[in-house]
Amino acid sequence: NTNRIAVLPGDGIGPEVMAEGVKVLKALAEADSSFQLEMTSFEWNSDYYLKHGRMMPEDGLTTLKNFDAIFFGALGDRRIPEHIPIWELIMPIRKNFNQYVNLRPIKQLPGVKSPLHTEGPIDFYVFRENAEGEYSNMGGRLYQQMPEEIAIQNTVITKKGVQRLARYAFDYARRNDVTKVVNATKSNAIIHSMGLWDESVKAIAAEYPGIEVEDAYIDALAAHFVQRPESFEVIVASNLFGDILSDLGAALVGGLGLSPSANLNPEGDFPSMFEPVHGSAPDIAGKQAANPIAQIWSAALMLEHLGRKDLSAVVMKAIEQVVASATTLTPDLKGNARTFETGDTIVKQIHQQ
Ligand code: NAI
Ligand code: MG
Repeated sequence: NTNRIAVLPGDGIGPEVMAEGVKVLKALAEADSSFQLEMTSFEWNSDYYLKHGRMMPEDGLTTLKNFDAIFFGALGDRRIPEHIPIWELIMPIRKNFNQYVNLRPIKQLPGVKSPLHTEGPIDFYVFRENAEGEYSNMGGRLYQQMPEEIAIQNTVITKKGVQRLARYAFDYARRNDVTKVVNATKSNAIIHSMGLWDESVKAIAAEYPGIEVEDAYIDALAAHFVQRPESFEVIVASNLFGDILSDLGAALVGGLGLSPSANLNPEGDFPSMFEPVHGSAPDIAGKQAANPIAQIWSAALMLEHLGRKDLSAVVMKAIEQVVASATTLTPDLKGNARTFETGDTIVKQIHQQ
């Protein structure tokens, strides 16, 4: 049972951090003969777009569909419009492969300072709805270039879409003895879509008697992230709210260089995708200055999804050791190591376990 992984390095720092993610996966396969790996790389990035006028071949999704998982770096390049990689590659994968759960761990590793003075360690999960919501391409613009110009962007919330996300989050809560789920909302102002959102979350909550659901308005919730981040365990949020909360959460626990994510298709009928929360970081690209830990941590989430919790734990332990010892950290964590040096040190730690 070989694990077939599609590797999409992308643009900017994507290929730099991906090289370290791949290095770690190869080290695991070398060290453990029961873990077989077949990685296939696809150069579907902005260069590809400039050459072919599209982000991936016409049968790109059909090709990806046959893999067990997708390991993704980051996309974005100043030479092409910002929305192209998102709407022609990332969104088609998330939506067509029913990756409706975007799981974003906000976890403070030992030794990482939070910019806040918190009472305890920060450790929670944001479950972001990943297939609908505010990130819809429905809408349009009227009276362009005129003083009366109008733009309308529709949000799509479906009962089924919210319920399946909520069910996944409540299942996680039950498995981990979490007794409260916080629901990020704004139904006081956005009455139709967020109204249905709240009702759908509550309908699922009713199936989990021991778990309380607490509605939190997104504006107040943002403040609570800063005031008492250690109090959260599980948060369910819409596509836009979850996007913002997880970047804010990342900033609380060491920044984007330490923030992984999983785009999950819980039914397993399509591959899931694992990627750092960060983008292509053109400001530091090509300098071996990017932190590869978010990418490597995403590999750990992928291993867990592939049924190798043991290997995922090995990777996490190696990351924790490297972060705690603070000897080979990249500039975002106040170190002076280069991207590959952090990757090498993590591999060394893996071999020592
Ligand atoms: P970004 O995440 O690329 O960078 C934001 C800031 O964080 C920059 O100062 C960057 O240097 C720093 N940073 C990010 N990752 C880092 C790492 N691993 N190590 C150290 N520092 C790191 O977000 P930004 O600048 O808003 O967007 C840049 C491009 O990336 C844009 O084209 C954007 O559309 C794209 N993007 C792509 C995403 C994806 O592929 N899923 C997600 C977010 C943005
Ligand atoms: Mg984001």
